[in-house]
Amino acid sequence: MEKKDQLVCVCNEIYRSAIENAIVKDGCRTLEDIQSKTSAGTVCGGCIDEIVYILKETIRDKNL
Ligand code: FES
Repeated sequence: MEKKDQLVCVCNEIYRSAIENAIVKDGCRTLEDIQSKTSAGTVCGGCIDEIVYILKETIRDKNL
């Protein structure tokens, strides 16, 4: 079954899959990397905790 994508950054309409791709494919390893690559978390900042969580989780789960 296909995993449902999740809207993480409402301000810039950035989905979880885009953040994961930035980490896995583009080598982003910090919040700042993800902000400059995807623009997620660059407006109100309300999604930053979620981005940091996804970052840690993805790095751990994929042994990056
Ligand atoms: S929800 Fe991501 S910057 Fe506002």
